Amino acid sequence: MSYPYQIKNIEEYEQAYKQSVMDPEGFWANIADHFLWRRKWDKVLEWNFSDPDIKWFQGGKLNITENCLDRHLGTLGNRPAIIWEPNDPEERHRILTYRELYTKVCQFANVLKNNGVKKGDRICIYMGMIPELAIAVLACARIGAIHSVVFGGFSAQSISDRIKDASCSLVITCDGAFRGNKDIPLKSVIDDALMTCPTVKKVIVATRTRTPVSMLKGRDVWWEDEIKAVETMGNPPCPAEEMDAEDMLFILYTSGSTGKPKGVVHTCGGYMVYANYTFVNTFQYQPGEVYFCTADVGWITGHSYIIYGPLSAGATTLMFEGVPTYPDAGRLWEIVDKFRVNILYTAPTAIRSLMGYGLGPVNHKDLSSLRKLGSVGEPINEEAWHWFKDNIGKGRCPIVDTWWQTETGGIMITPIAGITKEKPGYATLPMPGVQPILVDEAGKEIQGNGVNGNLCIKHPWPGMLRTTYGDHERFRNTYFSTYENLYFTGDGCLRDEEGYYRITGRVDDVLNVSGHRIGTAEVENAINMHAGVVESAVVGYPHDIKGQGIYAYVTLEHLSHDAELTKKDIAQTVARIIGPIAKPDKIQFVDGLPKTRSGKIMRRILRKIAENDLDNLGDTSTLLDPSVVEDIKKGRL
Ligand code: WT7
Repeated sequence: MSYPYQIKNIEEYEQAYKQSVMDPEGFWANIADHFLWRRKWDKVLEWNFSDPDIKWFQGGKLNITENCLDRHLGTLGNRPAIIWEPNDPEERHRILTYRELYTKVCQFANVLKNNGVKKGDRICIYMGMIPELAIAVLACARIGAIHSVVFGGFSAQSISDRIKDASCSLVITCDGAFRGNKDIPLKSVIDDALMTCPTVKKVIVATRTRTPVSMLKGRDVWWEDEIKAVETMGNPPCPAEEMDAEDMLFILYTSGSTGKPKGVVHTCGGYMVYANYTFVNTFQYQPGEVYFCTADVGWITGHSYIIYGPLSAGATTLMFEGVPTYPDAGRLWEIVDKFRVNILYTAPTAIRSLMGYGLGPVNHKDLSSLRKLGSVGEPINEEAWHWFKDNIGKGRCPIVDTWWQTETGGIMITPIAGITKEKPGYATLPMPGVQPILVDEAGKEIQGNGVNGNLCIKHPWPGMLRTTYGDHERFRNTYFSTYENLYFTGDGCLRDEEGYYRITGRVDDVLNVSGHRIGTAEVENAINMHAGVVESAVVGYPHDIKGQGIYAYVTLEHLSHDAELTKKDIAQTVARIIGPIAKPDKIQFVDGLPKTRSGKIMRRILRKIAENDLDNLGDTSTLLDPSVVEDIKKGRL
């Protein structure tokens, strides 16, 4: 596989960038030409940011799995597509070649068909990080079913909300998942979720942990039995469904400023081109390289940079079931050593947590295969950046600090590995095809360098979301109503004297905890469901490892007899309603919250107190009862 659109030097970057701004449609059409289309598009782009309505490669027909699998069989059939490393280092790893992966995807796609799945049906996938997860995702795409992967750390309630929002007809899950020393009973969580989900007719359960599970007659079937049934039929082929470029490929739920997660919708053609283009360019992927992204497929990073980006490029993608600290903090380095990994893409929170164990776990691991490093999910502090550079990259590997979002489908602002300049703490420069601008509160563009503002994008790119599932008005309202004719990212951003971008963090009510996105309103809703809670306000505060921690101010009906126990109970409620990832790190009981006369909670003040910035609370005179602020300051945790 060769990548004619791979940028090879700084001149090519500058030229590509210029062309992408002058003639975005010509630029993307040239790239899209290198994919397998059943039929070429009639029109490259049609768009407006006011309806909003965005269509790329209209009239084009394709199937993304033919691009990820079929087209590689001739030349790369025996090349490893997926290397899978289990949670337990004593267990055998698995390698699936492109041919094997193709066969398994077709088999499972036939299983889905045998279970009544049709093009356009929504399928919820709730699995651990095993190859069957990638197979399930691709099998959906093969037959034109829309996958909605839900991260294995979400609660039954969260899954149920997501299943209902998309009216999923089938769930694919596992008996359980291994993660570190934990064994998560996925099927049992699904059973709880499905009590309130009448649209789900079938559940397919893959075996992994051999945890006892209850199998409901007529609804639940085993993955392995269903595969046998397909084998008994003589393994019929599974031709790929012909999809329109703008047909939905998947829904992925993410948090926003309201209490209800939104279903970000990505479509087949544009997403494929964008995931592939950004993968090949950012990491400067060379044929044969072993690429390891430590994300979970439950998040967008796993969709774009474990599955679709690498596989569409014929790359070898390493999928790891476990966590970086199990059985010890050397596990990632062990994996790099074992498989001679060339590219490692991970999150600042993982780096910071591993830094805490010192160099013991790094020493004596052979990291000489590494050529490129990547970071994603949250701002990377300079200390972590240098630790990664010096101790993992041994000073020889470029680091790409990639800024993007679930909504953008792929990387937007990043260095191009080894080609454009890197700067610790900076995502640096936009990918060709991406037009970032900074705006002030009034929505006026801030020109020039050495400036701060809110980050917007002014022209569509193929990987952008097309709507929020079932609620186009929310799509318009969230991304296109703050500033006219601009996509608003929700991030604050600095453009330095040299024109390099540094993301400074969310400017809305969205937290980034260990690279996971959590809405403060969601956590508040969950806390408020706890018996005895009157109201709550949740804000973020700087956390050494997680990036941001969750700080909750809570008022109770009655003073608690055992405050510590009540806090644990509240955290338990949050875990049950959302998932363990949303548990508050700190809960402070207060007599009242700072409110304006109109009853609005002044979060700015609460944020400052949580950040321990007590001298800069600003004007508190507009508060209904300024004295609550003094009490809250006194009780600060
Ligand atoms: C938010 C998006 C991108 C996939 C994983 C997270 C923050 C992401 C960076 C970065 C600074 C970053 C932003 C963004 N973010 N990457 N390199 N530097 N901040 O996807 O859950 O949709 O979250 O993560 O605040 O808006 P997500």
